[in-house]
Amino acid sequence: MRKTYKIAVIGGDGTGPEVVAEGIKVLKAASAKFGFVLNLKDYDYGGERYKRTGEILPEGAVEDLKQYDAIYLGAIGHPDVKPGILEKGILLTLRFALDQYINLRPVKLYPGVWTPLKDKEPKDIDFVVVRENTEGLYTGSGGNLKKGTPDEVAIQTSINTRKGVERCLRFAFEIARKRNKNKKLTLCGKTNVLTFAFDLWERAFHEIGEKEYPDIQRDYAHVDATSMWMIKNPEWFDVIVTDNMFGDIITDLGAMVQGGMGIAAGGNLNPEGVSMFEPIGGSAPKYTGKNVINPLAAICAGQMMMDFLGEKEAAAAIEKAVMKVTGEKLKSMAAGKMGYSTTEVGDLVASLV
Ligand code: IPM
Ligand code: MN
Repeated sequence: MRKTYKIAVIGGDGTGPEVVAEGIKVLKAASAKFGFVLNLKDYDYGGERYKRTGEILPEGAVEDLKQYDAIYLGAIGHPDVKPGILEKGILLTLRFALDQYINLRPVKLYPGVWTPLKDKEPKDIDFVVVRENTEGLYTGSGGNLKKGTPDEVAIQTSINTRKGVERCLRFAFEIARKRNKNKKLTLCGKTNVLTFAFDLWERAFHEIGEKEYPDIQRDYAHVDATSMWMIKNPEWFDVIVTDNMFGDIITDLGAMVQGGMGIAAGGNLNPEGVSMFEPIGGSAPKYTGKNVINPLAAICAGQMMMDFLGEKEAAAAIEKAVMKVTGEKLKSMAAGKMGYSTTEVGDLVASLV
């Protein structure tokens, strides 16, 4: 029996549906070649649906999505909808409701891709960031007093649970072991100021590392220093683990280092449940419908999805095809400057899988 994967597809807003279509093109080529079946179902969640119906996610959406093997997401964010509504109502809601407690973001410079870091090459830029994805400053814990008055108070609390921190750290240690590269895990924190939150992270990091992962070298860097080293010496990093907010920030930095939003992909993972894969850039409304946006980030998100689902050979073939396209074909990663259209880039990768 051929293996079948049930995938929920949320193209979303702006250029999301266009890049996801190219990702699907590539996944179909991989399924034909490697003999698995993709059972895809489209969902119209996003700004247009919200404008039409006033509903962000329909009742039962989360329960429905739980029946899939994975979710493939384009982009969320619509120019006519106040920022935050769709991001919180769809992206963050799904991450939390599906308990996708890891946000995995590889930072890898592919051949031929321009990096703003002078003198750095693909061999220097190849690490992954493991971002905690359900806690920290993202829980919405807090409130305000006397809003709109001169005495206004606003509090937003970072929540760090022993369980949440431990499962994130273990996942990061496992990745460091599996990558089998420098076998080094860097905890990125701020122990000199956030003396409660990162005290917990630091203690758990060393306790788990010492007992369960003696083969993995433990390293620590404050988040400000991490940002410096990511620019100056990215080759020092193998796996970085950090909390939700710091992870959000350093992975945008990482995306630039690896050549921009045209190529950066990520996975929101629940290793025991349903995971969701997405290009990490936004919906790029100004490029919508022009067939100029770079679909490689979405294609790479699809690649991560197949890898996570266990189709290792297919995932490796997609990555190799992407590397050939960046190395030998594309002039730039930027929208409109690739030397090819969105659909042509999808065709190229699909033909090389
Ligand atoms: C990301 C995004 C989201 C986040 C936003 C859109 C809520 O920036 O996936 O990194 O902050 O996590
Ligand atoms: Mn972000």
